Parts: sequence; C-alpha cells; structure tokens
Amino acid sequence: MKVYIAYESKYGNGKKCIEHLQGILSKKGHDVETSSIREIKPNALPQADLYIFSSPTHIGNPPMKMRKFLKNLEVKQEGAKYALMATCMDAKFYDRTKALQIMEALLQSKGMIKVSDGIKIKVTGMKGPLETGYEEKLDAFVKEIL
Ligand SMILES: Cc1cc2nc3c(=O)[nH]c(=O)nc-3n(C[C@H](O)[C@H](O)[C@H](O)COP(=O)(O)O)c2cc1C
Repeated sequence: MKVYIAYESKYGNGKKCIEHLQGILSKKGHDVETSSIREIKPNALPQADLYIFSSPTHIGNPPMKMRKFLKNLEVKQEGAKYALMATCMDAKFYDRTKALQIMEALLQSKGMIKVSDGIKIKVTGMKGPLETGYEEKLDAFVKEIL
C-alpha cells in the first residue's frame, strides 16, 4: 500500500513520531513517503491509498499553517483513506482535545474515508520530549489504521 504522511512540527517531536511510523510501515512492506507541510502544496500531494496528517496543538488548535493546508487540500484519488495524529501537552490549562476534531472537520468535505478516531501523543514540556511509551502507542495506531 502507498502511504503518504504530511506533518507540521515546530520542535521536532511530531517529526520524530512520523519517522517512527515510517519505520514500522516500511518494515511491513508499505511504500511510505513523508513531507513537512512547509515543503508541499496542498493541491500537489502524491497519490496514496492512505494519508496520515500530523499536527502539534497550539492554543487548543492545529496551527494556522495546518488548518490552511487541510482547508485547501486536494486529494485526487477516489476512496483514499486518512488517519490523524496530534501531539499535545498533558497540562490542565490547555485544551488537549480540539486539534484532532478541527482537523477532521476540515477534511469532511474532501470525500476521504476516516480509518481511525486519531491518536494523541503527549509531550512532557512545550518543546518535548515525547512521553515514555510513545513508540508502543504508535505501533498500536499502525495496527488500527492498516
Ligand atoms: C504557541 C504554542 C501554543 C501551545 N498550545 C498548546 C495547547 O493549547 N495545548 C497543548 O496541549 N499543547 C500546546 N502547546 C504545546 C505543543 O503541543 C507542543 O509544543 C507540541 O506538541 C510539540 O510538538 P512539535 O515538536 O512537533 O512541534 C503549545 C505550544 C506552542 C508553541
């Protein structure tokens, strides 16, 4: 299966997760391509069977760059599937839940098929590091989305 992962990552934590995902999926024999959304236009995505979009949480939301990217996204492949990932902090004063919902709402009109309710990976500080056991969470996520 061709898997394409588009991500935003300010401090590199989300990117580290994507690299782990790419490793697991490649080992399973899938053809995986990744790009930062800073490098690719939303109407120029390669064809894929499964798309994964990954974003940090900024003030309860995906950052503006990711919102714009998903709003303008054009996926030409009919029946393409998608799954979402967000990194967030485990802090009470932050809204930790909205990023995935907002990303999903932006994708609703794109005719893609959701294969998961999405995954949230925690960072233990604004700039990281990632929570202990994030690799196992991502391993389980891969099982869910394949
Ligand atoms: C401007 C800003 C606002 C943030 N707001 C939130 C927030 O509302 N909720 C939250 O859980 N984390 C928040 N964070 C922490 C981010 O979730 C964290 O920096 C990010 O997940 C790290 O991933 P990255 O290294 O891929 O950028 C914020 C970080 C920044 C820089």
